[in-house]
Amino acid sequence: MSIFTRAVAAATEAAVVERTITRTRAGRALARRFVAGDSLEAGSRVAAELNRQGLSVSLDHLGEGVTDREGAERATDEYIETLARIPADGLRANISVKLTQLGLSIDAGIAAKAVDRLAMAAAEASATVTIDMEDSSYTQDTIDIYAEAQKRHGNLGVCLQAYLHRTPEDLERLIPLGGHIRLCKGAYVEPAQIAFQSSDDVDAAFARLLIVLMQAPEVRPAVATHDPRLISLTLDLAADRGEKFEFQMLYGVRQNEQLRLAALGEDVRVYVPFGSAWYPYLTRRLGERPANMWFFLRALVGH
Ligand code: FDA
Repeated sequence: MSIFTRAVAAATEAAVVERTITRTRAGRALARRFVAGDSLEAGSRVAAELNRQGLSVSLDHLGEGVTDREGAERATDEYIETLARIPADGLRANISVKLTQLGLSIDAGIAAKAVDRLAMAAAEASATVTIDMEDSSYTQDTIDIYAEAQKRHGNLGVCLQAYLHRTPEDLERLIPLGGHIRLCKGAYVEPAQIAFQSSDDVDAAFARLLIVLMQAPEVRPAVATHDPRLISLTLDLAADRGEKFEFQMLYGVRQNEQLRLAALGEDVRVYVPFGSAWYPYLTRRLGERPANMWFFLRALVGH
């Protein structure tokens, strides 16, 4: 985790920074790059356009850290509506959900019930559900809830973060359950006791996990990175893999690479966030790349 990422994470927690980003034209312009729009209609429109370009989609109705039961239930209902839109609009899409949006920070049972409802709605829509991975205080609950739901429904997937020291064991535990496993580097600030800190160490951990994942016929690997070296390693490993896998990338990041891989015949899924609660999502995108912060600061001062 770079000093830059830590500094951005700390700065964006300040209310004044949040106001500056959410209430200025420069902040909203930056959000437009990474977020499809405020509504499900906007998410569906962007998904249809990406489908036309040969890319599939994961729809993320933005929201996290919900602290009241009504809010968690509303978020679950909104996701059920999103799932219904997938066949209605003829989309090649699934959904990505954060368990703290579905009530995990209130009570794990609330989130588990919500995941059950979503898995059933996804089955009706012939779609799947991917559970995002949030900060390390939620890792164990997220894995447990995923494992139970996947055993019952069989149409789920989960994200694992390469930077966590625990992930090799989690991967071994989850592979026999099938489903899809999304491997990413990890986007939250975590301490050295539990997570690799340097980008070299994180990349090496990603590569080790990727080798295990690509050799597991039970699961559909979802390789979530924009990193050219890891993409190239994936293509090498794919030569020995009989079963399907997919690349996953974020809306607004390396679009040409998404299209290049699709043109090579690879399955590529774009993660498309929509909704008005975009601030925490945007702060993680800002922390990943100094250039995004410069873009914002320059726009803010009018250059
Ligand atoms: P890296 O950060 O090294 O970037 C490689 C290159 O990609 C950069 O040089 C740049 O060109 C481009 N790039 C990357 N990020 C960019 C950005 N923000 N803006 C512009 N260019 C950028 N994390 C998590 O903790 N839990 C989760 O559930 C998920 N889910 C998830 C889904 C999908 C589909 C993706 C692609 C990623 C996630 N992540 C995530 C985020 C992930 O952990 C990681 O923070 C980002 O993907 C950035 O890491 P890269 O692997 O792309 O490498």
